[in-house]
Formats: sequence, structure tokens, C-alpha cells
Amino acid sequence: MLESNQISKNTFVNKSMIDKFYHIHNYCCQINVYDSELVSGQLQTLGYKETNNLDLADIILLNTCSIREKAEETVFNRLDSLHYLKKNKPSLLIGVLGCMAQNLKNDLLDSKPYVDIILGPDSYRKLSQIIYNRQNPLTNHLVDTKLSKYEIYDDMFPSRKSGVNAWISIMRGCDKFCTFCIVPFTRGRERSRPIENILNEAKNAINEGFVEITLLGQNVNSFSTEKGDFPVLLNELAKIIGLKRIRYTSPHPQDITDDLLEVMSKHDNICNHIHLPLQSGSTKILKRMNRTYTKNKFLSLVDRIKSYMPDCSISTDIIVGFPGETEEDFLETLSVVKKVKFNFSYMFKYSARPGTKAAEYSDQIKELVKQERLEKLINIQRNLTLMNNKEKVGSIQHVLIEKISKKSSDFWSGRTDGNIWTIIKKNSESVKDVVPVRITEAKGLTLFGENINN
Ligand code: 5AD
Ligand code: SF4
Repeated sequence: MLESNQISKNTFVNKSMIDKFYHIHNYCCQINVYDSELVSGQLQTLGYKETNNLDLADIILLNTCSIREKAEETVFNRLDSLHYLKKNKPSLLIGVLGCMAQNLKNDLLDSKPYVDIILGPDSYRKLSQIIYNRQNPLTNHLVDTKLSKYEIYDDMFPSRKSGVNAWISIMRGCDKFCTFCIVPFTRGRERSRPIENILNEAKNAINEGFVEITLLGQNVNSFSTEKGDFPVLLNELAKIIGLKRIRYTSPHPQDITDDLLEVMSKHDNICNHIHLPLQSGSTKILKRMNRTYTKNKFLSLVDRIKSYMPDCSISTDIIVGFPGETEEDFLETLSVVKKVKFNFSYMFKYSARPGTKAAEYSDQIKELVKQERLEKLINIQRNLTLMNNKEKVGSIQHVLIEKISKKSSDFWSGRTDGNIWTIIKKNSESVKDVVPVRITEAKGLTLFGENINN
């Protein structure tokens, strides 16, 4: 007989579990998407099937984010609506996974006592045990939010939905401690997976029919192992036969090395796109953010990237209204944005996260000022994106066909090497093909074109 605390692939599979269903909902980042695939893998091993019908679900898990206050509010509201479901079906298990579980364990226990399971990002292995325990009635909440220096889930298998892109987590945690950011507290210290295991996971994904992989990590290019760092890993992955595209997110500017740029420029299947979070264009604010680079260093890094890959798309993250940000500081951000001409940006109002250093700064910025700055920035970026896209009209871009366009079933939707969504008229191509497309039009964030091989 198995001990109740044994967890292996086939442990706890039990006839009564056949035809039980789970639903898992992700908030925010791609890392949560990957983690949910790991959790799905475990639940499927236990005999559970995935459903989007909440009335059918026996377990509903929310994989959460704490990066901004709004993300947490959304989850609290969602939990209230799930409470109604549980009133009608008391056996329903409700679980909160991820950063909010880590960050707000006590608040959740106090204000949402009907939540059964609270698991932090390093505790997903416990899920099988918890579900087993739950079969015995009268167990209380099951909470585990211990962070680990070692957990990389290297032996767990993600259950991926079939498609074009497979997410692969290569490292977890963050040691950078930007003063605005909750991630080092919710996700713990940096740790990397062994290169061989990542190569195997990528090869398996190709065998399962994926043609693109996106490497994930809170600081993906801080990846570091005895057998090599991030450029070594990329170089090995790029040699895998059948792997049409490699992307990665999110890197830190500090760790963009010449070795990395050289590897990227050497391999056609490593996409010409770098997500390069700027956060602020003011050296004073960058220092207060603990970002480790100045405005000029960032600008020369952009030049360095373009010297290796002149066509490289560069996207970014920007925070407006960080404590102490004056109008002059904000104008510095705008000047960097205009100089770099980012292809696209994710733009945020600063959100104070309790427990972080910046939340303690006394010179917080008024909501109205943050809102005005955000709107200004969004307008400028929107024009830059359109301008960049218009410059592509007439050029040939290689587009990986991903799906039927939402607008019309007569069109395909895919992404260029530089990560720009492109719509093309359907012809003899199929999903997963990379086709040369002549760009004929640019509208908003999207390109339009035709396959020159037709
Ligand atoms: N407030 C606003 N935006 C934030 N980000 C991280 N923390 C905060 C915060 N407290 C943004 C950063 C980061 C992106 C993932 O989220 O721009 O790069
Ligand atoms: Fe947060 Fe900074 Fe780490 Fe990115 S690098 S996860 S912004 S602390």
C-alpha cells in the first residue's frame, strides 16, 4: 500500500476520480501559463479532465499575479463569484495559486475562508497530496507558501494544449530587487534548470508538433549553469532540427551580453526581437528603481543591439508615476521612447506594492498625474508603433502562420520574426508554415500582406 505522503506519477489515481473535472484560470504573465501547464499535468495524472464549464468543475484554481494592485483586486472579485458556485456545490474545491497566494496568504484566509487551497509558486508539487487528503472529510484549508532555493520542477511534465508555440520555463525567481517590484518576494531567488533537460523538453515539444518555443524566466537571460549561461543554451537550442523559431522573455538589460547578441545574429531561427524593459528614461529615477543602468547606458545598449541586428524589433515596459518622478523625469522617459522608437510597449501606472522599498518612499505621485502621464505616453507610443509598421510596407517579412484571423476565416494571422501580428489572405499555406510575405498595409498594431510564393 502507498503511504499517503508518497507522491509519484501514479499515486492517488483512484477510480472514483474518473470523470472529475478541473478548471484553471491564469492571470497575467506567461510564466503563470507554463506553471498552469505543470499543474494541469499533475491533475491529469490523477485522472482529472480540464473543463471550461465552471458548473461541471470539481476543482477551480486561479493562478494569480501580484505585480499591480489591480491584478489582485480582479482575483478577489472573481473569488466572490466562485463563492456562489460553492454554496450550490459544497464539494467544489477552490484554490489560489501563484504570487497572490504567496503574498496575501493571511488576507485570503481571513477574508475568503471558503478558499480550500493556497499554494505559492514553489509548492505546486503538493497538489496531489492535498487532493488526496481532501478525500478524507474535515480537513481544513491547505496552505503551503514556503519558498525554495531549489525548486525548478525539472521532473514534472507540463500538459500543453496543442498549438504552434510551447512555453518552456528555464529559470525561476529573481535576485534583482527593483524597488517597485514584488516578484523577488513572491517568487524567491534565481535558480536555473540544467541545459540537457531544457534541450530534451524542447525536442519533446517538437516531436509533439510544436514549431516555436518561448523560453521563460523572470530574468530569463540571468540563466546560469555550470555548463553555460544563456547564450550557450540558445546556441544549443537553435541547432534542434524542426525548431522553426525561438523567442524568450523577459530579459534584464544588464545581462544582454555581446555573446548573446552574437548567438542571436548567427541563427536564423532565433527571432529578431528583444523585449528590453526600460521602466524609466530618467537616470535619477532608474537609480531609485535600482535598475543598474543609466539612460545613456540603455541608449548605447540599443545601439549595440542594432549593430548586431539592424532589423531587430525592440519592445519595452515603462512605468509612469514612480515616487519622486517630476515632469522633467517624465520628459526624459518620453525622449528615450522617441529616440529608440520602440516597436511596442507595455505601459503602466506605478502601483505601490506593500513590502517593497518604493512603497515606503514619501514622495508618491497623485493618481491624476499618473493617469495624465500614462495617456500622453500611450499616444506617443501608438504613433511610433504605426510609424514603424508603415516603414515595413513594401518589405518582405517572414511570417509564421498561427491561426485563422479573428476578423475573417478567409485570412490567416501570424507573427513576423520581429513579433508583429500580420494578416494574410488564405491560400495554400497551413498553420505552422513560415511564409515570405510582402507587406502591403499597416493599421494600428497590425500588418497586412500577401504570401509572395502564391
Ligand atoms: N507598478 C507598476 N508596474 C510594475 N511592474 C512591476 N512592478 C510594478 C509596479 N509595482 C511592471 C514592470 C515590469 C512589468 C512586468 O510590470 O514594468 O517590467
Ligand atoms: Fe521585478 Fe526587477 Fe526582477 Fe523584473 S528584474 S522581476 S522588474 S525585480
